[in-house]
Amino acid sequence: FEKIHNVIFEDAKQGAIQVAHEMADLIRKKSNQGKTCVLGLATGSSPIRVYEELVRLHREEGLSFKHVVTFNLDEYHPMEKSNIQSYHYFMHQHLFDHVDIDPSNVHIPDGTIASEDVKAYCRSYEQSIEAAGGLDFQLLGIGRTGHIGFNEPGSHFNSATRDITLDHITRVDAAPAFKGLENVPRKAITMGIGTIRKAKRIVLMAWGQNKAEVIKGTIEGAMSPEVPATYLQEHENTTFVLDRESAAHLT
Ligand code: F6R
Repeated sequence: FEKIHNVIFEDAKQGAIQVAHEMADLIRKKSNQGKTCVLGLATGSSPIRVYEELVRLHREEGLSFKHVVTFNLDEYHPMEKSNIQSYHYFMHQHLFDHVDIDPSNVHIPDGTIASEDVKAYCRSYEQSIEAAGGLDFQLLGIGRTGHIGFNEPGSHFNSATRDITLDHITRVDAAPAFKGLENVPRKAITMGIGTIRKAKRIVLMAWGQNKAEVIKGTIEGAMSPEVPATYLQEHENTTFVLDRESAAHLT
């Protein structure tokens, strides 16, 4: 499996700036063609510097988000939008409140949806992505379980947007932010592996030694539902952007 192309940067900051510049170039290119740019976005610690740089490009270099449509990967469920641990809150804090995006172009899975309505809601989320023309670019982080979005081990290659049960390791990693494991939600709504794989371009970022083992398994291991990120080996246009620490175990 040689399909995953990787680029290793001296540090996370340089890698994140490079990723932001690729996104900015795509936004400008599509906007010059009079087209919307459809971005799939991630939360968590990995993309924070990417959003910082996009905000800087907006403020200092006139990058406009007027023709950008976004779909976030996931949200805890249940989760209120106003909760500071929600991905809704995160995205507004780090990006949407600081750029000229039309709020009606922002899509984040709704953590307040009633359990009995989740199935229909997830179907409509998939349909909205398709109606927007599909994802031009998908930004990803990776969990220590090998999850992308919240597609935990066991996720199907063709899975669509759905509700899932979070892996114990994922909840342990989220525990500090929630001030204790008992406060971490047990479920989430996530785009599926199939949803992500349909993106025309995928960039996965991983920073730091905590990710070194899962990065090795994802790039060098056999494709397996036990490490859902290995499914990216089958995607034609995926790049992993790494720092020295996360790339340390690669042969
Ligand atoms: C977040 C997401 C997750 C994270 C992953 C890594 O929207 O989909 O897959 O990307 O858990 O999180 P960080 O970046 O905090 O290490």
